[in-house]
Amino acid sequence: MATLPLFQFASLGAPDTGAAVLFVGKSLTLGATASALDDKSAGAIKRAIKAADFKGGLLKTLQILAPAGLDLDQIILVGLGEEALTEKDFAALGGAAMGAAKGAKEISLVAEADGVTIDGAAASLMAMGMKLRAYDFDLYKTEKGKPKEAKAAANVTILSADSAAASKAWASDTVIADGTLLARDLVNEPANVLGPEEFAAKAKALEALGAEVEILEQAELEKLGMNALLGVAQGSVRAPRVAIMKWLGGKKGEAPLVFVGKGVVFDTGGISIKPASGMEEMKGDMGGAAAVTGLLHALSARKAKVNAIGIIGLVENMPDGNAQRPGDIVTSMSGQTIEVINTDAEGRLVLADLLHYSKETFKPRFMIDLATLTGAVIVALGAQNAGIFSNSDELCSRLSGSGEATGETVWRLPLSKEYDKMIDSKFADMKNTGGRLAGSITAAQFLKRFVGDVDWVHIDVAGTAMDAPKTEISQGWASGFGVRLLDRLVRDHYEG
Ligand code: BES
Ligand code: MN
Ligand code: ZN
Repeated sequence: MATLPLFQFASLGAPDTGAAVLFVGKSLTLGATASALDDKSAGAIKRAIKAADFKGGLLKTLQILAPAGLDLDQIILVGLGEEALTEKDFAALGGAAMGAAKGAKEISLVAEADGVTIDGAAASLMAMGMKLRAYDFDLYKTEKGKPKEAKAAANVTILSADSAAASKAWASDTVIADGTLLARDLVNEPANVLGPEEFAAKAKALEALGAEVEILEQAELEKLGMNALLGVAQGSVRAPRVAIMKWLGGKKGEAPLVFVGKGVVFDTGGISIKPASGMEEMKGDMGGAAAVTGLLHALSARKAKVNAIGIIGLVENMPDGNAQRPGDIVTSMSGQTIEVINTDAEGRLVLADLLHYSKETFKPRFMIDLATLTGAVIVALGAQNAGIFSNSDELCSRLSGSGEATGETVWRLPLSKEYDKMIDSKFADMKNTGGRLAGSITAAQFLKRFVGDVDWVHIDVAGTAMDAPKTEISQGWASGFGVRLLDRLVRDHYEG
C-alpha cells in the first residue's frame, strides 16, 4: 500500500505554507478564510477563477500554483455545486481535493464555505475521503527491479470551526477507512500470494485489536460435515480454511450480528472452467470475505458496543484430478443434498455450509452474507448498486438507508417460491444452478434454503467489490465495498 497521509485537526485559520484546499460555494463565493487569502494575494484567487472560467461545480477542482503574495506552493479550489451536501458528498469532496493535491507533502484543508455549515462530522468525513483516495496498491511496482523506497507520508491538517468534534469523529472514521483499505489490500493481492492459509493469517491478525479469532482447518471442517465447502476446495493443492472473527463489545449474552463472507481466493470455475479472457480478475472472488474482515477490523478498532461475528470460507476453486465433477452430489452440513450441475457456481456451496453453521452455532440476531456471487448481478445493476436479497423488510430498509448515507448503495431484488422451484433437482434436494434466467435470484434462493427463519440479507457484490470504476474516493478495481455500509448499519441501529 502506498504511504498514507497523516492527519491532524486544528481551528480555522489561513494556512501559509504547502498546499491549501479551499471551497468555492454557490455563485462562486469564498468562505471568510479563503477571502482573507484572496485579499492578501491582491485578488489572485478570484482572478484565477475568472481566467479559468471555473464554475464551482460539485467536485470540480482548480489548481493555482505559486499564488502571488503568498508563501503557499499552491491553492486547490474545490467546487461545492448548487445542491445541499450530503454525507457522501463530504467524503467525495475530500477525495477530489486529495486527487488534485497529488504529490503535495503538506496539505491544509480549510473546512469552511460561504453559506454551508461544515460541522465536525463533515470535516472528519472529508479527511476520510482524502485517506481513501490516497490509497494506491503499488506493492509490486519496482524502481528498475529494486524495491521502491518508501515515500515520506504527507501531512494533512484539517482546519475547521469545531476541530474538537472533528477529531472526535475522526477516531472512528480513521479506523473505518483502515478497514476499507484492508479489504482493498486483500482483494488486490494476487492469488499466488494470498491463498486460504495466508488469508486466514490476516484474519488472525485482528487479535491485536482485541478480537477473538479461530481458524478451522480441513480436519475440523470434515468433522463438522461441511462437505459443500470441502467439495469446492478438493481440486486445489491448497487446503481450505474457515476463519471466525469475534468482536464481543456488546452486552454479555446478547445475540450477535453475524457477517458471512465468500472467500474464493481464486475461481477458475473448476472442471466447468472459465474462458481464459479476463480470468485473472477471479483473484478478487474473495471480495465478500475481504469486506467481512475489514468490517471486523473497524468494529474491533473502534471498540463498537456490539457483539459481532465475521465468518469467512477460504477456498480455491481449481480443476485437477481430484476436483469435483458436474453431476456430483454432496451432502451439506445441514443434511440437505446438492447436485453440482456447474462447478463454477461454487460460492453458494461455500456459503451454504457457513450459513447453516452460523445459524446453529451463534443463534444470530441476523445474518448478512457478502459474496461476489454472480456475473448476472453485474448485468442487472452494474457497479452502481450491490444486489440485495432478503427475508426481512426491516433489515432491507435499514441497509438501504446505510447505503444512501455512505454512498455504498444497494438495490433489492425479489425472491419467491416460483424462483425457488428453478433449483429443484431430479437427483438431489437441489441443484447448484437454476439455468440462464434470473441467475442472481436463483443463487439467492439457493442460499435461502440454508438460513432457516433467521433474519437474513444476501449482498451480491460481484459488481461493486472488484473491477470497480475509479471514483473520487477510490483509484479503482478493489473498492473495499461493504465495510462502510455495514459499519454504518451497525452504528445506526445496533450499538449501545
Ligand atoms: N465468482 C463468480 C461470479 C463473478 C463473475 C464475480 C464476474 C465477479 C465477476 C461465480 O463463482 C460464478 O462463476 N458464477 C457463475 C454462476 C453460473 C455458473 C450459474 C456466473 O455468474 O456465471
Ligand atoms: Mn465461479
Ligand atoms: Zn466465484
